[in-house]
Amino acid sequence: MNFGTSSLDFSIQAYHEGITPPVTRPNPAFLKDIGELGMRDLLDRFYIGLFESPIKELFPTNQEEMRIAGQYSADFFIQICAGPTYFNQSRGAPQMRRRHAAFRITSHARLHWLVTFEEALQPIITQELSSQENIQSFWNYLNTFSQWMINTKD
Ligand code: HEM
Repeated sequence: MNFGTSSLDFSIQAYHEGITPPVTRPNPAFLKDIGELGMRDLLDRFYIGLFESPIKELFPTNQEEMRIAGQYSADFFIQICAGPTYFNQSRGAPQMRRRHAAFRITSHARLHWLVTFEEALQPIITQELSSQENIQSFWNYLNTFSQWMINTKD
């Protein structure tokens, strides 16, 4: 029996070098649930978390630049959830692997990236801003697509 406990599964899929798993876009209902502002808040929290994380060296060192980077990321996530194409307008075609090629992204960095994202998702869970199904779909997207970004051995 489920005594009101969360059925969310935040386990992190093991990465195998050179393997890029199939990726399913998040359910657009996640964006509908939290709204564009909710997505911007989520990415704000995530980038504040990254700024204090063990992978902070990869990111801008200035808090204002970090805030701006978080908002470009929000543009992307709104777009990937079938919202307006803000990222195409602000930054151009996503081409995420190409954009990440300039950074040394190891499988270890991916773990910190995902754990930091999981922390940023917590208020959405506790305040029940989205359904568990839709949050799970968003997480599954991060979990799989983040493996595509790894470009450096640990
Ligand atoms: C695997 C771990 C990852 C690491 C360590 C990482 C790291 C970075 C870094 C260092 C940047 C440049 C600074 C910035 O603009 O924020 C960046 C940009 C970005 N990343 Fe990642 N990233 C990862 C995975 C992902 C994934 C899975 C996505 C999408 C689902 C993503 C989406 C973005 C976006 C949208 C930008 C902004 C690009 C731009 O504005 O031109 N990243 N990432």
